[in-house]
Amino acid sequence: MKILLTGGAGFIGSHVAEQLISHGYEVIIIDNLISGSTTYLPQGVEFFQMDINDPSVEDVFKTVKPEIVLHLAAQTSVVHSMREPYFDFQSNTDGTVKLLQYAARYHVRQFIFSSTSAVYGEPTYLPIDEMHPIDPHSFYAVSKYAAERYIRIFAAQYGFTPTILRFSNVYGPRQNTAGEAGVVGIFILNYLKKEQCLIYGGNQTRDFIYVKDVAIACRKAIESDLSGIYNVSSSVELSIGVLNELISQQLEVNASANYMPFREGELIRSVLSNENAKKGLEWVPTFSLLEGLYETIQYIKEFQWKGVKVKN
Ligand SMILES: NC(=O)c1ccc[n+]([C@@H]2O[C@H](COP(=O)([O-])OP(=O)(O)OC[C@H]3O[C@@H](n4cnc5c(N)ncnc54)[C@H](O)[C@@H]3O)[C@@H](O)[C@H]2O)c1
Repeated sequence: MKILLTGGAGFIGSHVAEQLISHGYEVIIIDNLISGSTTYLPQGVEFFQMDINDPSVEDVFKTVKPEIVLHLAAQTSVVHSMREPYFDFQSNTDGTVKLLQYAARYHVRQFIFSSTSAVYGEPTYLPIDEMHPIDPHSFYAVSKYAAERYIRIFAAQYGFTPTILRFSNVYGPRQNTAGEAGVVGIFILNYLKKEQCLIYGGNQTRDFIYVKDVAIACRKAIESDLSGIYNVSSSVELSIGVLNELISQQLEVNASANYMPFREGELIRSVLSNENAKKGLEWVPTFSLLEGLYETIQYIKEFQWKGVKVKN
């Protein structure tokens, strides 16, 4: 089965590509490499370096004739979206609409989209399920939610299966630790550099899901061929302070952090219900937090850590 995977050279996309290749799928990747890398691409994929907004993307649909589009390419930084809302809109909403037009024209059977828990905004109850009110607080969340709505209307009009996956906080090997995302990688790198982790607050909670479990959820979305909205999360509520301690334990060093006052505007608590994905996609997270942290630490030690100067 031919899968057109956008953003397949990125953090999550490269794990999805590995997962699909190892299960016998034919994977065609479109990625402009703005934050991805060809070094992440597994053997056996077909790769097109292009922007999803590039008109030549239509040629890929025409020649490849994918049965399924798995759309992960996006501008993923909340901070950047607030600085450059139009760029964010072009990448995340405009680009998605273009892909949808091709999907309709070339008779794609299913369109799977990586959305985000950010669409829910401030939780009014926990755990957040898919019926929770939508209240995006950033341009990033708005552009993702607008894309979701376009997908549903296109799907109704052209008869393909729309599958929306809303990821919680994804972590694991290959995550970019330079931006605001990737607190797990940032903490690990700080400990390796013998620098103090900076924590604003510490009691705020998040739902961390390991990237390989997200990749499995994407494959299960293909195999189930179900329409709908599915939170992809661990459903485990973990505070940033406890995360810091767990990472230090795994690295066998004393936990240390520079605690600063909690920043107004940040979510205090967040945890998502993954019951819908368990029932519908027959997916359960298979990696414990400790397993995920262990693999992430090994990866960072082997690759990202190289060349970083150690401060004494
Ligand atoms: N990482 C998370 O915690 C998280 C949480 C919720 C949702 N998501 C979503 O998951 C998806 C993957 O995110 P990620 O964390 O792997 O980020 P990433 O930046 O590593 O991956 C995005 C990939 O898309 C490519 N890309 C970006 N804009 C493009 C464009 N216009 N045309 C073609 N390629 C483009 C990048 O080069 C990169 O390879 C995104 O849609 C993101 O919104 C991620």
